[in-house]
Amino acid sequence: MPGTNATSRPRSRVAEPLTAAGADPQRLYEAAVQNPDADLDFMSRVYTRLRGRPPRSIREDFCGSGLTSAAWVKRSRENSAVGIDLDARTLEWGRRHHLAGLDPEQSARVRLARRNVLRPGPDASDVDAVLAMNFSYWVFKTREALRGYFEAVHASMRRDGVFFLDHYGGWESQRPQIDRKRCKGFTYLWEQRSFNPVTFDADCRIHFEFRDGTSIRDAFTYDWRLWQIPEIRELLSEAGFRRTSVFWEGDDDKGGGNGVFREVTRPEVCPVHIAYIVAAR
Ligand SMILES: C[S@@+](CC[C@H](N)C(=O)[O-])C[C@H]1O[C@@H](n2cnc3c(N)ncnc32)[C@H](O)[C@@H]1O
Repeated sequence: MPGTNATSRPRSRVAEPLTAAGADPQRLYEAAVQNPDADLDFMSRVYTRLRGRPPRSIREDFCGSGLTSAAWVKRSRENSAVGIDLDARTLEWGRRHHLAGLDPEQSARVRLARRNVLRPGPDASDVDAVLAMNFSYWVFKTREALRGYFEAVHASMRRDGVFFLDHYGGWESQRPQIDRKRCKGFTYLWEQRSFNPVTFDADCRIHFEFRDGTSIRDAFTYDWRLWQIPEIRELLSEAGFRRTSVFWEGDDDKGGGNGVFREVTRPEVCPVHIAYIVAAR
């Protein structure tokens, strides 16, 4: 996710070596970018409000290491999760670092599968909620491709399933920029190297810097289309979702986000925003 300072979601949780040598980019990424508890708290709250019961089964699309799936099954014995991603190495990293730490009962309720999100498969279907976080769905760069993904999600969920996506935008997101964030033991850099206002294509990169002057450049790279909220909602509707809503992050009065997301129709305009889009089947 972009290293925007306008959100409170990213959080650093691990101390890493103070040098590039020996640092694990996946661990740094998770510490700087991911906040599974925030995503899961939000998803549970909104799902329960919509459906009158807590969600139990989730699918984590673009799961990477499956950090969120592992966190979900730790929360309750009734929870289950399947994570899908194309990248075999990251999935294996997740099995070793997140799934291996679970007890046998928890392990039995989570799976990571190497698959395309366009074809999740019957054993990754009929879930209560699908999560597509950290803007990963921006890898689909045409209306047809993104609608195709949304159709695949729609077809694979329970009849009362709910789809959760996140979004960043605002005028400051539409230009080349580098945001820096100090984390424990390293600095996280989110670089939007280029932005094309005609196509909305963006070349985005993550770098890590260390106090001894070493760095890991291009640790992660993304070739994305920066989709805008109205386009996403239209495509969700075309894919069959009956209702979509937008939840906007509140302001911490210091130029950042406060981590509290409320449903909005006419939010405060900000230079950078983080939002969740919720699509109900
Ligand atoms: C930005 S990372 C997201 C990692 C993690 N889920 C997160 O929230 O930070 C994007 C992930 O999407 C995966 N990916 C890209 N296209 C995919 C596809 N069509 N099907 C499944 N995974 C895909 C990549 O392998 C990568 O692990």
